[in-house]
Amino acid sequence: MRIDIMTLFPDTVNAVLHESILGRAAKKGLIEINCVQIRDFTDNRQKQVDDYPYGGGWGCVMMAQPLKACLESILPDGKGPRTRVIYMSPQGRTFDQETARRLKNDYDRLILVCGHYEGIDERFIEECVDEEISIGDYVLTGGEIAAMAVTDAVCRLVPGVLSDEQCYTGESHWEGLLEYPQYTRPEVWENREVPEVLLQGDHEKIRKWRRKKQLERTMAKRPDLFSRFDPVSEEDLSLLREIEKDSRRMKLTLPLSYRPADAEDIPDILEIAEYARKDLKNHRVDQWQGPYPGRDIFEKDIERGECFIVKHGDETAGFFTLSVKEEEDYSGITDGKWSSDEPCCVLHRSAVAEKYRGTGISAFLMKCIEQQCALFGRRNIRTDTHRKNKAMQNLLRESGFSFRGNLTVSSEEGHDPSRQAFDKLLKQQEEKR
Ligand code: ADE
Repeated sequence: MRIDIMTLFPDTVNAVLHESILGRAAKKGLIEINCVQIRDFTDNRQKQVDDYPYGGGWGCVMMAQPLKACLESILPDGKGPRTRVIYMSPQGRTFDQETARRLKNDYDRLILVCGHYEGIDERFIEECVDEEISIGDYVLTGGEIAAMAVTDAVCRLVPGVLSDEQCYTGESHWEGLLEYPQYTRPEVWENREVPEVLLQGDHEKIRKWRRKKQLERTMAKRPDLFSRFDPVSEEDLSLLREIEKDSRRMKLTLPLSYRPADAEDIPDILEIAEYARKDLKNHRVDQWQGPYPGRDIFEKDIERGECFIVKHGDETAGFFTLSVKEEEDYSGITDGKWSSDEPCCVLHRSAVAEKYRGTGISAFLMKCIEQQCALFGRRNIRTDTHRKNKAMQNLLRESGFSFRGNLTVSSEEGHDPSRQAFDKLLKQQEEKR
């Protein structure tokens, strides 16, 4: 791709377009960017390029003659079918990714004409210009910034200019969607964490998560773009249904926190546990189906300082019991082993209130558990769950826990005692680079 830019400020434009990625691509011969001084083509001694407008009015207009002479010097043999002369003008069609792709695919050579002052003589446009392009509905003092934007957007699509084709597939505007959010080190910055799914290395899950984010943020940030997007794949349709379902869920708009529970929290805790009991029953999970865990258990948890409640504003949204006491049943793990023998915390009981299901509070609750484990001076968390409790297993996996083997716990008579064992080793605080 060769781009010639007709301008009164070739040094400024050259300086910008010969830096960084485009500069390197030009050195490799993948693109050629050439700025031409329009003033060098005037036929008057004063090298005047503009004059007063006929009919009066404010400012000056660039004359057709130097523009035409400049263009002819760039195209001494005339214009071939794969060459396009473009005038940068607020009156043109608004530039977008689709136009960048079209220019890159349909032409080998672009000549970008930068106007200044009050515009250019209309007869040059009629005589020589194939197309007018604007970079937005505002007026700049000249076309240079617009020409630089167009040059950059077109050149980066030329194969080899970016290191990998994926650099531009998947990015904003590629398929009429915005790009998914990106994160880099550290994992936690200003108390904001990188989404767990990106840390787990499951490429299929990451791909799906990113696609959902693309759909979600295009809908939220650019409804104009989204209205033109036509989802056809089964995956997009299903992700859109998920997004729609998410949007009907209660939103966590108030501050989230957790603290040790006290006796006054017991009614809230029992209500949440009662809902969890029913929910497990509906999912045919033979867990919490007797009197366990009842008031006596929570009272003891609270006495030992091991029961915590999660708050959304002033409301209790969930609870968990995290103990530093060893769990005897855990030594009998079969079909695998724990990740580490170092002292651990054991997550015994946790549940989320009915109205908070599906709000994302569970992920927050898991983070509180990790924080509390660290406050207990440990970095090893163990827990177990019923083999049919898929919701808990998914939550554990999504929160970075891994399946370690099977357990038999001392459960109530007549109830299934087999459990799956999970654990997570917390990372040391990321070292500062
Ligand atoms: N020249 C002045 N304003 C412009 C704009 N918005 N787009 C392209 N060229 C311009």
